[in-house]
Amino acid sequence: MSANSEIIVRQLEEDEKIPYPLLLLADEAMEAINKYIFDSEIYVAERNNKIIATYVLKIIDNDTAEIKNIAVDRAFQNRGVGSFLLKHAAGKVKERGFKSLLIGTGDNSLHQLNLYRKLGFIDFKIIKDFFIENYPNTIYENGKQLKDMVVLKKDV
Ligand code: ACO
Repeated sequence: MSANSEIIVRQLEEDEKIPYPLLLLADEAMEAINKYIFDSEIYVAERNNKIIATYVLKIIDNDTAEIKNIAVDRAFQNRGVGSFLLKHAAGKVKERGFKSLLIGTGDNSLHQLNLYRKLGFIDFKIIKDFFIENYPNTIYENGKQLKDMVVLKKDV
């Protein structure tokens, strides 16, 4: 997708449907999503008036915001949309005066970890047993049970 020039990023309006099918690509339990979605900002990326990706931003404190969920429609993955949205989020939070942006993922989510590190996020902390304590079912990723969350941080 050439420089993602055809993509418009905007905040979801209050009367629009929460894009659960996309959010569930990144976070497999609706009950986990519902723990953060109602006190977060939802951004959507549109191409030809169709939503193809989303990210969810939660304000943590005066200095810090966190991307709680980022997901790109399968048909549009690996074309730079996710990177574009991560840069968009970092730019927006900087504009608003925050100092850092957090993002968390499974300690075995190698593809996601690589992407975030490539974009300047640095390992910040590990939340032990996050995926055991917060999800109803055991989650496997890359053939291994998901237990700990790695939180990465980028100074914006
Ligand atoms: N053409 C080809 N390849 C490209 C281009 C381009 N124009 N731009 C970037 N790439 C490469 C990147 O360098 C990257 O390479 P790598 O795999 O070697 O690191 C790869 O494509 C992926 O980068 P993007 O295309 O920018 O990422 P994508 O649009 O696929 O989004 C995401 C990444 C969000 C993880 C997506 O794969 C997805 O939705 N996955 C399912 C849900 C998920 O796992 N979400 C994250 C969970 S953690 C959380 O939500 C907080």
